[in-house]
Amino acid sequence: MRNNYIRAIGFAVAISLLLLIANMTVPKTVLSMDQHTWSDQEKAILGSLWIGSLGSLPVDPSNKYSDNPKAAAFGRKLFFEDHFSGNMKVSCATCHREDYSFTDNLPLSHGMDTTPRRSMPLAGVAYNSWFFWDGRTDSLWSQALGPIESKLEHGISRTMSAYIISKYYREEYESLFGPIPEITEDKWPQEARPAQDDPNALKAWVLMTPEQRDAVNRIYVNMGKSIAAFVRTIVPQPSPFDHYVEQVQAADTTNPRMALTNDEVAGLRLFIGKAKCTNCHNGPMFTNSDFHNLGLPQNKKAASDEGRSTAITQVLSSEFNCLGKYSDAHPNECPELRFIDTSDKKYVGAFKTPTLRGVTDRPPYMHAGQFATVREVLEFYRSQAQNPELGHGDLTDKELNQLEAFLHTLSSPVTSLQAEVK
Ligand code: HEC
Ligand code: HEC
Repeated sequence: MRNNYIRAIGFAVAISLLLLIANMTVPKTVLSMDQHTWSDQEKAILGSLWIGSLGSLPVDPSNKYSDNPKAAAFGRKLFFEDHFSGNMKVSCATCHREDYSFTDNLPLSHGMDTTPRRSMPLAGVAYNSWFFWDGRTDSLWSQALGPIESKLEHGISRTMSAYIISKYYREEYESLFGPIPEITEDKWPQEARPAQDDPNALKAWVLMTPEQRDAVNRIYVNMGKSIAAFVRTIVPQPSPFDHYVEQVQAADTTNPRMALTNDEVAGLRLFIGKAKCTNCHNGPMFTNSDFHNLGLPQNKKAASDEGRSTAITQVLSSEFNCLGKYSDAHPNECPELRFIDTSDKKYVGAFKTPTLRGVTDRPPYMHAGQFATVREVLEFYRSQAQNPELGHGDLTDKELNQLEAFLHTLSSPVTSLQAEVK
């Protein structure tokens, strides 16, 4: 009897122990097999990549028109206007096509002629501090002034631009920025611009009076500020990846309709883990806003390109930078420019980490269109085992497939908020 009693107690204890162990271990093993389970640290990383952490558009103190809807509506017209070009056929939209994530489909963009670099997407561009692949401008408005005077892009001068504004857009311009002088072809030579690459254009510019030059610059800058007011309204929408992060954060991970497939989730795990992509592609725009030399092959059709290292002096000496006379900012509001990293040697051949939002919708890739497909980009990363910043040598083919599958989940419609304002 007593033995039975002891045996029963022993049995009960053993069962309870088993249950206890089971309670402790079973859910854990089941959960660790569930691929939608993320550690707190991983959840924090997912949250930092989520579109919801973008926040509202950053203020641009150098452009007081940046949130003026009338300026944005005017800028939108200028963006699509082919009159501002040497052959009346090139507009910003030639190389930033709305139907192609605001890029074009060429390895090297083509306006009046072929440029040495690939076009760049515009969705969410206002969240950047530096613009172009090398960051040679520090605001969206000064960025917009570059292509107009580039011989390879729009191929006209600022004086010609001012003339077109005074002729075709006078009323709209004056209602925003005040009166402009009569700009006649005879007294305002149409080629006049402070050009390094064209002695005649430079001579015509120098021969104009300082008042004329300032009047032209003002109109030119206001065009840039209006275009920037439009461009900053181009933003990405939430993608399947963002919906997935919301499901994970809401602990809704047994939902039969998870926003990502198993392969996509495996790719996401690699992206933030083993493949080290978030070393550079981090934050809600998937960029660290820094410049890196990845050791890419040169595009044979493009000249050798120093990237960021030459852009540092360019942005510091630009008359259109945040500290310049045409900026609306107080010098204290230009920290990026004042504290710019000037170690140009470090940045030889370095280019801006691009956003990966919408990346699979806009081949080809890299600053000179070196790769035709995302797969080629991933193969390149794998081949860089010797580069300590990359070092993805041990990724298997299956893992490359998963990374590629994940990159597809960053696509979403791109819209301009300005369209709603109109
Ligand atoms: C001939 C094609 C072409 C035209 C026309 C053109 N762009 Fe671009 N755009 C490019 C290329 C190429 C780059 C990258 C250039 C570089 O890094 O040197 C670029 C870069 C940009 C960037 C920088 C994006 C970033 O992430 O830094 C913005 C913004 C932009 N363009 C807006 C415009 C606007 C606004 C216009 C019209 C005023 C315009 N572009 C006209 C081809 C063009
Ligand atoms: C050391 C920083 C760094 C790391 C790590 C990194 N990237 Fe990049 N990525 C860049 C830079 C910089 C570029 C643009 C380089 C250029 O054009 O010169 C780029 C370009 C790309 C592009 C082409 C985008 C376009 O619009 O042309 C893709 C796709 C990409 N990276 C995906 C990844 C993936 C996936 C990983 C992880 C396997 C990764 N990157 C790791 C910095 C990095």
